[in-house]
Amino acid sequence: MAERRNRVHLAPSLLSADLAELGRSIEEAERAGADAFHVDVMDGHFVPNITFGASWLAAVRRRTRLPLDIHLMIDSPMKYFESYARAGGTTLVFHAEATSEPRALIRRARELGVGIGVAIRPDTPVDQVEPLFGELDEIIVMSVYPGFSGQKFLPEALPRIAAARAAIDRAGWDLELAVDGGVTVATAPPCVVAGATFLVCGNSVYADGSVSRNLADLRDAAERGRRERHEVR
Ligand code: DX5
Ligand code: ZN
Repeated sequence: MAERRNRVHLAPSLLSADLAELGRSIEEAERAGADAFHVDVMDGHFVPNITFGASWLAAVRRRTRLPLDIHLMIDSPMKYFESYARAGGTTLVFHAEATSEPRALIRRARELGVGIGVAIRPDTPVDQVEPLFGELDEIIVMSVYPGFSGQKFLPEALPRIAAARAAIDRAGWDLELAVDGGVTVATAPPCVVAGATFLVCGNSVYADGSVSRNLADLRDAAERGRRERHEVR
């Protein structure tokens, strides 16, 4: 827990990378100090878009040893858990809105030997998933409606991050509190002040300029947030 508090993890989202140069996109971010990669899996049902099958994930796994955070924006996540675990996913994150049996998914992930997380859309109350926190490795509080990169950060996410942080700290659990959607140098600090420990960064890493410069700027922004959080406490 102490370690997670002391370092904010930055996870570039490969959805925003140049997919024709995937290997290079991965290597650049890894060299620039990325802590993990975020992989957005979309099925055209749970969200309108379609992306990234398990064979694609296996190709990513061959290029990096960093943790792979698999964000399953799909209906019927159980059906695909095994293939994404076998393809090299480190943590499988299902959507709370996509299942009525979250505990079966948690058990299945444990059987498969992978980490497990839950993501919530901006309109799903945090307290709906709070009873699961003690069994999870990660929660993703979405700060955009899932489906596309490059959307604007919804500031309503901030009190939701703070509520999740308060629940985690109250119970003394040890899980990563992630924010996904519209994270930039401007929005990263308030997310960290609210208690986030894991920032998913798509366009802010890959859309413009140099990946290493962008990651360095995001690292500074996250660090500023971390200092501010410790000062106010
Ligand atoms: C959106 C995805 C995000 C996306 C974030 O549905 O879940 O992970 O890649 O991209 P940015 O950081 O550009 O909002
Ligand atoms: Zn995502």
